[in-house]
Amino acid sequence: MNAVRNHRIVVERRGPPDVLSWMSTQRPTPAAGEVRIRVEAAGVSGYDLMIRRHWFFGFTKTPYTPGEDLVGIVEAVGQDVTKFKVGQRVAGWTFGQGGGYSEMVIRPAETLVSVPDGLDPVVAAAIITNYLTASLALHKTAKVQSGERVLVHGAAGGVGSALLQLGNLAGLKLYGTGSEKAAGFIADNGAVPINYRTENFVRRIRELTDNGVDVVIDVVGGPRQLWRSGRCLKRGGRLMMLGMASIKKSGVSIIPLSLVTVGIIALWPNGVRLPMSPSMMSFPARNLNWYRDTLADLLAKAAEGHLRPAIAAEIPMRDAARAHAMLEEGGLVGKVVLTNFG
Ligand SMILES: NC(=O)c1ccc[n+]([C@@H]2O[C@H](COP(=O)([O-])OP(=O)(O)OC[C@H]3O[C@@H](n4cnc5c(N)ncnc54)[C@H](OP(=O)(O)O)[C@@H]3O)[C@@H](O)[C@H]2O)c1
Repeated sequence: MNAVRNHRIVVERRGPPDVLSWMSTQRPTPAAGEVRIRVEAAGVSGYDLMIRRHWFFGFTKTPYTPGEDLVGIVEAVGQDVTKFKVGQRVAGWTFGQGGGYSEMVIRPAETLVSVPDGLDPVVAAAIITNYLTASLALHKTAKVQSGERVLVHGAAGGVGSALLQLGNLAGLKLYGTGSEKAAGFIADNGAVPINYRTENFVRRIRELTDNGVDVVIDVVGGPRQLWRSGRCLKRGGRLMMLGMASIKKSGVSIIPLSLVTVGIIALWPNGVRLPMSPSMMSFPARNLNWYRDTLADLLAKAAEGHLRPAIAAEIPMRDAARAHAMLEEGGLVGKVVLTNFG
């Protein structure tokens, strides 16, 4: 009988942060092709908050353990796993299946990459979801070119700050919306800060660029926001709807309203295009080579100091509810990461 227990956070029913409960379960054993990881760091994201509060068709059913990005040490390998050895540090994305808020987790070996020596596991965890999403959006979907002008909304958030840092490496001219507290951070990341709470961002972009930007990447969503984002574009520009951070304040009804709005923008005769980023729940799983190569490259760039994810807070895994409450409250700069897994 295996006496070692695994502790994890479980969402039994959807609701506010305090639905996150601490649970003790049996230690899992890896099957063929799988690896058991002792988790050192797991990211907390806007996605975790959204599916904790709301049910969406096809998304994780309760009960489930949240956590999309995780970093840890290989503790056991299943049959046929030759790529990883016990004691090695690995990182991986869980493709929308959750599981990261656990002391130990089983993952298919093919979904993991090794973490470069010297890279802090907290920093590595902050890279995974946000920088993969940003890389997919910039390079595969918007297909940005060096010198293009790009407006990033939610620029101090997890995905937004990743967009700025990768945008800098791609030679873009960047503008970023955020709160007053985030202005310094946005400027330090190479973008012109625009305060979304006190400034009219459409007017500001018109002042700064004359005819508008080439690309707007909008993680905030909502009909009014998207309509105004469209008005920031030059003729023939691209508008990418990448997220719905404003669900936090406005509720899920903004999803259909946002879709109707982008439909109207697409039909408007001003040549604006609306490239849709493929879902991060399915694209990496269907394109494992892209996923592994991109993640390994992003981690290498972080280890070399070319990418510096901001860490808003490191919270012990047992206090995951507090981490969710902090992110829900807003006003943070960077990624919240769970640590101290025991
Ligand atoms: N499509 C994909 O594959 C994908 C992947 C990952 C995430 N996402 C989505 O992207 C969204 C953002 O995720 P995240 O993890 O980056 O969240 P996050 O870290 O909470 O960042 C959201 C940011 O948006 C800011 N914000 C809120 N309202 C704003 C407004 N009206 N104008 C400008 N900025 C505003 C927030 O600032 P305050 O703190 O001041 O509120 C915060 O800095 C979520 O909806 C998430 O589900 C999509």
